[in-house]
Amino acid sequence: MSEEAKPQAAASAALTMDKLVSLTKRRGFIFPSSEIYGGLASAWDYGPMGVELKKRIQEFWWREMTQLHDNIVGLDAAIMMHPRVWEASGHVENFTDPLIDCKQCKHRFRADQIPEENLKERKCPDCGAKALTDARKFNLMFTTHMGPVEDEGGLIYLRPETAQGIYVNFKNVLQTGRVKVPFGIAQVGKAFRNEITTKNFIFRTCEFEQMEMQYFINPSEDAKWFEHWKEKRFQYYQDLGIRASKLRFHQHGPDELAHYAKLAFDIQYEFPFGWRELEGIHNRTDYDLKRHAEFSGKDLTYLDEQTKERFVPYIIETSAGLTRTVLVALCDAYEEEVVEGETRVVLRFHPRIAPVTVGVFPLVRKDGLAEMGRKLDSELCEEFRTFYDESGAIGRRYRRQDEVGTPFCVTLDYQTKEDQTVTIRFRDSMEQVRVKMAEIAPTIRKAIKEYRRPGA
Ligand code: GAP
Repeated sequence: MSEEAKPQAAASAALTMDKLVSLTKRRGFIFPSSEIYGGLASAWDYGPMGVELKKRIQEFWWREMTQLHDNIVGLDAAIMMHPRVWEASGHVENFTDPLIDCKQCKHRFRADQIPEENLKERKCPDCGAKALTDARKFNLMFTTHMGPVEDEGGLIYLRPETAQGIYVNFKNVLQTGRVKVPFGIAQVGKAFRNEITTKNFIFRTCEFEQMEMQYFINPSEDAKWFEHWKEKRFQYYQDLGIRASKLRFHQHGPDELAHYAKLAFDIQYEFPFGWRELEGIHNRTDYDLKRHAEFSGKDLTYLDEQTKERFVPYIIETSAGLTRTVLVALCDAYEEEVVEGETRVVLRFHPRIAPVTVGVFPLVRKDGLAEMGRKLDSELCEEFRTFYDESGAIGRRYRRQDEVGTPFCVTLDYQTKEDQTVTIRFRDSMEQVRVKMAEIAPTIRKAIKEYRRPGA
């Protein structure tokens, strides 16, 4: 079997959102929602590759944020909550965007996204007509009704953040979880926001997923824990395989701070459309627990058994978007290079989050190679996500796996029948090594553990 030629830089290798949307559709990562009916603006479905990538990222976060800490526990609260929760949290009053309409073209904008010049002249940035309305407050929470009668009594909200499900369970976890301050509660789940502007693919959508951890601390230690989580969360993205040069912090100024936050830093990523927020780290003080105590009438204080001090814990929150991390992983992994005069598109995912870890290919279907391939696949899939493919030229099969980011491909050929060896082909270097069948799993395990992206 011949080795592949050395790659060269592609002339127009820069990633655009159009390229990404097209690749992710073609390779089964992300589809427009309800596409056969013409789609639904800004809603997306995760296909066979996308759902695997999302699951891997979620599992990685869960491991990092719960399994590796003996004082952080998990929770899965309901999406629908008592409506008073959102009065207490301040969302009914404060979770609003300033909205401006164009009376001419009917387009809708967030006031803070219209250039100053246009605002002064009331000139629409899209159609140019001097027809902009005044700004009005628009609450981002979706409402629905519980029960058969659509009246005020049955009004409920779809949660706009997962965090509140954690705060209202603070006492439950404290009483049952054998935890002591400082401790954390972690949750992954859907959140909903009636966003006014939803462009840029899955960056900002009305339905999305969050991965949030709320860390309950003694108020006197807020500076220390804030710094701790800020650093840990920055490192986390590098462990996930994201290039450090594409990550940075952004501190919220006084006009950016959410109504609950005393201090906030975003971790930003440099998307093809610029630097944008990926995760927020917030010092929420005792705002949430105090408000829920006030609105529910329940005692949400904490007694430190050792010092006998009673206090309302402060909360340091780490709030990451799961679906937004999927976009970051895709953008960051995307590379183009030229191999033997053809463009090779490769997604350089960290092997821990790649949708498929190992491709298994018999060189040809005949002479018993397919049977051997299927047997090997059924063994490897006990431990790794595998993809079995026996059709087409081997080079084409490799390219297909490059495009979905499969880090390792195992090929069986005629020599396999004689000496029980196969080749393992590495996605990034395209290098191939010959190993005994019994060595496949240990070789892959080691390569995952020691993985370094070329040039990183
Ligand atoms: N509990 C705090 C909170 O929700 P946030 O900054 O509003 O804070 C946290 O949201 C993260 O959730 C963001 O950094 C982003 O990754 C993700 N996120 C927020 N709105 C989103 C949307 N409309 N679509 C996709 N992800 C979103």
